Amino acid sequence: MTDSLLSVRDLQVKFRLPAGAMTAVDGVSFDVKPGEVLGIVGESGSGKSQILFSLMGLLASNGTARGTASFQGQDLLALGPMALDSIRGVTLSMIFQDPMTSLNPYMRIGDQLAEGLRVHKGLSKAEAWKAAVAMLDRVRIPDAARRARHYPHEFSGGMRQRVMIAMALLVRPALLLADEPTTALDVTIQAQVLDLMAELGREIGTAIILVTHDLGVVARLCDRVIVLYGGRVMEEGEAEVLFASPAHPYSQGLLAATPRLEDALTKRLGTIPGTPRSGGAMLPGCPFAPRCTLKIPICDATRPPLIAIAPERLVSCHLTGAT
Ligand SMILES: Nc1ncnc2c1ncn2[C@@H]1O[C@H](COP(=O)(O)OP(=O)(O)OP(=O)(O)O)[C@@H](O)[C@H]1O
Ligand SMILES: [Mg+2]
Repeated sequence: MTDSLLSVRDLQVKFRLPAGAMTAVDGVSFDVKPGEVLGIVGESGSGKSQILFSLMGLLASNGTARGTASFQGQDLLALGPMALDSIRGVTLSMIFQDPMTSLNPYMRIGDQLAEGLRVHKGLSKAEAWKAAVAMLDRVRIPDAARRARHYPHEFSGGMRQRVMIAMALLVRPALLLADEPTTALDVTIQAQVLDLMAELGREIGTAIILVTHDLGVVARLCDRVIVLYGGRVMEEGEAEVLFASPAHPYSQGLLAATPRLEDALTKRLGTIPGTPRSGGAMLPGCPFAPRCTLKIPICDATRPPLIAIAPERLVSCHLTGAT
């Protein structure tokens, strides 16, 4: 795809462990077009965060990433620390699961926001502060000019997340990587925060990769969605189409556990029988085969390729086309 902002090809993330190597992401490929919102959905441990971390060059020290991730003409996976620093927080931003991990507790909120603009965009101190306050106001921090002088601990959890969004979008990045907030925030507040992020992203023209467990969030905010299981893409498609007719037994199970799409607006991923894969050696066949009620012998033996069943619609399942 030539119109892609980000093109990830055959991404593999492995971790070295005392017991041997663990594959967390196994040959994942996808594209993000300018301005679109791509959802990555899957159970805990399916590799969602590690995809984002590898793109940001932030894998844990025992991890390595292979493959390519072409972003605005550069391969993110091949860049050294200096080159990555000139992209991170400039054209590529990330919002982490826990906002406190990326806010400096000893620095005033306004200064933290202004810093990026001064360092990367060459704004004066006064200009950067003014832009920071305007952005805090934009993410609905009440009395932004005064609050900008406060420190992170003086903000509530929901406000800190809005600050993270302000910080990530202030530089007007081409792409925002957003890992689902799992803090103990009220579900309605989480929804408001994510809605605000999508709204601002649209306004600025920033594409977003949104990692989430929440089908409601995907249905409401995403243009396209990737369903991940055991570090592999099970299915990909336009969010509306995929929800209307999931093709992979795993996605069918997830959606069946959520009775109706309207209910998906308030519910999280349903539970399907069996235990999610917990790493270790990769199976020779489909990672979902041990839990799949529809499996046939080939599913345990051979990995199904990810094939196009319609334009913009990919499925990795031996049953596709066979039934
Ligand atoms: N440093 C590490 N060393 C070994 N294994 C790791 C390391 N970091 C992550 N993993 C493993 O990689 C797999 C994928 O993890 P990842 O954090 O991407 O999951 P996730 O889909 O984001 O889950 P969640 O929804 O719970 O955030 C998991 O099995 C996890 O235990
Ligand atoms: Mg995660």
